Amino acid sequence: MKFESEVVHAGDRKRRNGLPVPSTTPINLGTTYFYDSAATLDHMLGQPEDGFSYARYANPTNTALEELTTKLERGHGSLATASGMSAVQIALQAALLDRRHTVVASNALYGATISLLDQVLAPFDVDVYYTDICDYDLLKRTVEEKQPGCIFIESISNPLLRVGDIQKIAKLARGVGAALIVDSTFSTPILVRPLELGANIVVHSATKYLAGHGDVLGGIVVSDEAHHETVRMISRIAGPLLGPFESYLTMRGIKTLALRFERQCANAKRLAEWLSKHPCVDRVYYCADPNHPDADTIRRSFAPGLFGAILSFEIKGADKEAVLAFMDRLRMIVPGTSLGDVHTLLLYPLIASHRNVSPKMRERMGIRENLVRVAAGIEAVEDIMADIDQALKGV
Ligand SMILES: Cc1ncc(COP(=O)(O)O)c(C=O)c1O
Repeated sequence: MKFESEVVHAGDRKRRNGLPVPSTTPINLGTTYFYDSAATLDHMLGQPEDGFSYARYANPTNTALEELTTKLERGHGSLATASGMSAVQIALQAALLDRRHTVVASNALYGATISLLDQVLAPFDVDVYYTDICDYDLLKRTVEEKQPGCIFIESISNPLLRVGDIQKIAKLARGVGAALIVDSTFSTPILVRPLELGANIVVHSATKYLAGHGDVLGGIVVSDEAHHETVRMISRIAGPLLGPFESYLTMRGIKTLALRFERQCANAKRLAEWLSKHPCVDRVYYCADPNHPDADTIRRSFAPGLFGAILSFEIKGADKEAVLAFMDRLRMIVPGTSLGDVHTLLLYPLIASHRNVSPKMRERMGIRENLVRVAAGIEAVEDIMADIDQALKGV
């Protein structure tokens, strides 16, 4: 089956014992399960992967979603979690459980992931070293020197959209016995499939493209064979599961993922081309740019013809006050913090994702006061352009 068909069918419609089959997996709210014989319950409690006994171990709605995401990421198994951050946490714990408690991480991670590493894991004696994962020689030196138990990267960085070479980084990780975790929220399994490139664990904030409609907070962990059981073991004990209603909504969202994401990528590409010629715009950051510093990696690892649905641009001569006024003039685009929704979202890193980064550090990272990020929605691209155009006119 092709990806566009898998998103519609995987996980759903399993035939069992001649019973009627719902065409979509229903929301199963029950917390406790019993069987015709206590011996079966005994078996399920001992082997929770074989069936259902208690909702903290597994739930049929979540299981259907997990089968779907496992298929899409070409993994061994999945876990649906209560948020993207709980997915990141459980992936890190699973990777470090029986390895050196040292993490080499990208220096361009989502802010809460940095906080998780620095404020939650570091006090439990996890050493964390940040580095530029797009500078392969530097990364190699860091990995060889620090001998980490885990390397943590994002498939596309925020907001400057840098792309590390997952295949090369996975090889580096294997060389020192480390697990490679890739947060693939920005790319979705349509653009990049990190497990196929040698990563061990993939995480998503399902809040974004997977659910896709701005109405679910959720996360997904997809693991290779070596890590899946550890992820589930931690989850059975700690119970950070996605609720069945959110699982249902996420599965419903994924059915249109291919349609939505391809449209969003096409809109982003048109927007990037148009913005690069706009008189009020200094610079555009987008993965289709032939002068992108990681153009080679992008060509090798992204699905052909797709470059992601997020772009960033600098507004000519704008300071913070001017950018805030620009945001206030937007009529259709939502000036919010998220991404991946059907509606276009515009984020100002200075007040959102990079709010807690010092101005000096931001400057060093290349994130200027006049930079905004757009997560293209599925609207008519002409309407997105018209909205940005009229809002730029007042700058
Ligand atoms: C790349 C990335 N990873 C993880 C997260 C955390 O996801 P959630 O807000 O669902 O916990 C986000 C949220 O914006 C994100 O952008």
